[in-house]
Amino acid sequence: MTFEEMKTLLLDQISQQQLVAATISQPRMKSNEIKRIKLKPIMLKEAYHIQIEYQYERILKHENVLLADFPPKLDLFFTDFRQAHIDFKEEKVHVQLSKKNKVLWKSDKAATPKQVNLSHNRKKNYLLDESTPYPFLIRLGVQSEEGKVKKQKYDKFKQINRFIEFIDDALAYLPKNRQVRILDFGSGKSYLTFALYHYLKIEKGLDIRVTGLDLKKEVIEECSRIAQDLGYEQLEFLVGDINDYNDESNVDMVVTLHACDVATDMALSRAVKWGASVILSVPCCQHELNRQLDTPALDVMLQHGLVRERFAALATDSIRAEILSLVGYEAQLLEFIDMENTPKNILIRAYYTGKKPTAQQRAKYDAFVTLLNAKPFLANELTAYL
Ligand SMILES: C[S@@+](CC[C@H](N)C(=O)[O-])C[C@H]1O[C@@H](n2cnc3c(N)ncnc32)[C@H](O)[C@@H]1O
Repeated sequence: MTFEEMKTLLLDQISQQQLVAATISQPRMKSNEIKRIKLKPIMLKEAYHIQIEYQYERILKHENVLLADFPPKLDLFFTDFRQAHIDFKEEKVHVQLSKKNKVLWKSDKAATPKQVNLSHNRKKNYLLDESTPYPFLIRLGVQSEEGKVKKQKYDKFKQINRFIEFIDDALAYLPKNRQVRILDFGSGKSYLTFALYHYLKIEKGLDIRVTGLDLKKEVIEECSRIAQDLGYEQLEFLVGDINDYNDESNVDMVVTLHACDVATDMALSRAVKWGASVILSVPCCQHELNRQLDTPALDVMLQHGLVRERFAALATDSIRAEILSLVGYEAQLLEFIDMENTPKNILIRAYYTGKKPTAQQRAKYDAFVTLLNAKPFLANELTAYL
């Protein structure tokens, strides 16, 4: 088989929409910036496209091309690469090219025919693919160098994916015509901060600037090093206390993950004052309301320390969501991750809509805080907005 015949055979199958997935590898030159290319079909605006994923040393870039525009791409791929593994619906093909383009073609027609998932909305699967090596996940030790999720890091991988689903849902609320400013309060080891950056900047191509803030100097220094190694230029890490951080004026998205006690409320209040369009917050321990609770009618519950603690945490999150709706957000309490992963699994999601609260809504909130004798830190911080 000649080089040209090989390309014609492949293009025939691709044009008949037989492609399931392909990996093109072995760059002819070591200096080639693109190390590997992956292909898969997707439907976009009801048109069949091939999604091309270019894997660089540290980043991934994506391009979606219509079938009609694909042949010249394949020509270019084989100018730069010497190997391809291609899964068609009813055949697996392995192509190896010599330096002078002598073709070694292996085909396995007995391989099980595959189903193709053309949906661009991969909600039911993970948004980060389990078998793709992601430089940030490798660097954070979640994946091996080959891109395999490490067994002991599987929960983390699930959590990262779940978080990215929330980020994906929030895309519609982020500005498109300018740089998007994002703050992550209490970023800690910053798995989610890196994930957020990867998803919005590298996969979605958004112009973003992200800051992760945490009290721990060593952790922040390590995160800064990783960001630098990965070439994440618009991601910075700062040492500081959420309670003292007030250096911004316009912030589009505020994220907090397990920031302790009222540090979460401080972050929420800052987000409201900065006019953030998106808030994603998974609270942590909760002590404030636990101390204030004084409701004899609930003593059957509250006399038990464990129940009192959980009740205080649930009531606090409900109060937080209610305050956010009173100041113009559409706020929901959602399950962040399965209970078996972490009991701290409520995510407060709030999108700014500017909707004014009704008198009834206000009265409902007042009655609840009065019943519990609650004097919420967040309400106090946002007095001027309520
Ligand atoms: C449980 S860790 C979570 C880290 C990270 N968000 C994650 O999910 O992997 C909580 C982090 O919040 C930080 N933190 C708690 N209170 C803070 C505050 N007031 N200001 C800044 N960081 C805070 C802690 O130092 C810790 O690193």
